[in-house]
Amino acid sequence: MKPAVIISLFVLLGLCAAVIIGFRPSLSSPLPHDDEQSGLKERITIKFSHVVAENTPKGLAAEHFANLVAQKSQDRIEIQVFPNGMLYSDPTEVDALKRGDIQMIAPAYSKLSAEAPAFLALDLPFAFPNQQAVDEALQGDIGRTLASTLEEHGMKGVAYWTNGFKQMTDNRKPLHKPEDFAGLTFRIMPSKVLASQFARLGAKTAFIPFTEVYRNVEQNSVGGQENTISNIYSKRLYKVQSFMTLSNHGYLGYAVIFNKPFWDKLPADVRRILQEALDETSLWIGMQAREINKLQLEEIRKAGTMQIDELSEADRQSWMQILEPLYGEYDKEIGHGLVAEIRKLRERYSAP
Ligand code: SIN
Repeated sequence: MKPAVIISLFVLLGLCAAVIIGFRPSLSSPLPHDDEQSGLKERITIKFSHVVAENTPKGLAAEHFANLVAQKSQDRIEIQVFPNGMLYSDPTEVDALKRGDIQMIAPAYSKLSAEAPAFLALDLPFAFPNQQAVDEALQGDIGRTLASTLEEHGMKGVAYWTNGFKQMTDNRKPLHKPEDFAGLTFRIMPSKVLASQFARLGAKTAFIPFTEVYRNVEQNSVGGQENTISNIYSKRLYKVQSFMTLSNHGYLGYAVIFNKPFWDKLPADVRRILQEALDETSLWIGMQAREINKLQLEEIRKAGTMQIDELSEADRQSWMQILEPLYGEYDKEIGHGLVAEIRKLRERYSAP
């Protein structure tokens, strides 16, 4: 045998011995173990279903949250996001969550009001003079009270995500004066307060799931609807509606919710990672949403398919006057305390 071959064999034998002796973990010493991370031994998959497009505030927040969770858990928690109602639509997602078929949803507040009527508070017209008032409400006692009402229904409220203020659209005429609404029909989300809002303006309403709004508006089974700019843009409603009034008369945001038994069974370290990612996402989307709505309003203007008008201060006062009685009408159903808190907040933020 040549000397070079003999040397190579020795080196190889030496390496094998080193691997066997030096690198094998000692059987007597325990494996390194981090108690804090014990819940992360298994891979955890969370199905998150929602009904809007990926380029909307909620769609972007969902993706941002999923990425943060993957990063923070080093890919051991996977958030599977199902947008556009591809898995469940409005009428079915809450039940699917409660059954545990999915673990996470983020419905608009109105869509929780059948289960938890306190959420009707957030549909009261002109409740919030600006986004700061919304944030103060949801980050404070109002937000905590609302989230607590979900628990008895097997749901755990974990965050609030922003979209923006709603605007009125219609395909027949501009909506300026309260009288302009008489006899018209509007698509609404399933909320008694929204039905009453249009009834007070003399209009009819139809509850229609978000995934079916475009078709119903296009086929004229309803003439108008109210929504945020990002939803009007991403659903292409601006192509099938001729008039938009920038009225900011109501607010649309999301309660982020887990199936409560699922959440309660998660190890504490997993819940901590999720909660951190949720809170960071709430802040992030709070900053993005305003910009998205602003940019998409510009896109709608550029498309030139709609007449877009600002609601004048005088008309705004007339809408508010006609709609104010809803606060008294729903005081009992929502809960007197919550309605009183919202009134106080509104006064504070409206003060000159
Ligand atoms: C959503 O933003 O989740 C949908 C709102 C709607 O149903 O109009």
